[in-house]
Amino acid sequence: MAWQDATPVGDVYLWLAAAEERELRAHLPDVPLITHLEVVEGRRNRRVGTRLIRHAERYLWLAGFKQVALGVALDNEAARRLYARLGYAEWPHGQLATTEVLFHADGTRELRPELCRIMTRRLDLD
Ligand SMILES: CC(C)(COP(=O)(O)OP(=O)(O)OC[C@H]1O[C@@H](n2cnc3c(N)ncnc32)[C@H](O)[C@@H]1OP(=O)(O)O)[C@@H](O)C(=O)NCCC(=O)NCCS
Repeated sequence: MAWQDATPVGDVYLWLAAAEERELRAHLPDVPLITHLEVVEGRRNRRVGTRLIRHAERYLWLAGFKQVALGVALDNEAARRLYARLGYAEWPHGQLATTEVLFHADGTRELRPELCRIMTRRLDLD
């Protein structure tokens, strides 16, 4: 979580278990995933997202991982640009069909198919 004083302003979730998608398990075995990066509206463009990613990368590097991956929806150009600037490159295996989980205010969840590009980065932080 990212906090500003006592207010949560962003989050990221690290998926360390085997990926749900077969293609990810095949091409990137044992590579952790950065998922659900989000900064609340009104707090964006202040490097909170960048700091969350860098913090996640450092955590993974200290845990011994050598590479990290993430999926970004085809229409999310702002996020793709941010990841590219932070050193992520698209993998050569094409787009991936994934499932987006939407959490509604009433506590229900909705599953939606989502086409993603997969981006990876080597963790060479020393
Ligand atoms: C993607 C997301 C997490 C980025 O978070 P953020 O806190 O806005 O990210 P940053 O501030 O680190 O960087 C984003 C932009 O701000 C700019 N920026 C950052 N710090 C800046 C500064 N001090 N001065 C000027 N611009 C700055 C960056 O250059 C970048 O600009 P660009 O998109 O025009 O190229 C956020 O937009 C978000 O929650 N989006 C909705 C959910 C989502 O799409 N998540 C990604 C799923 S893959």
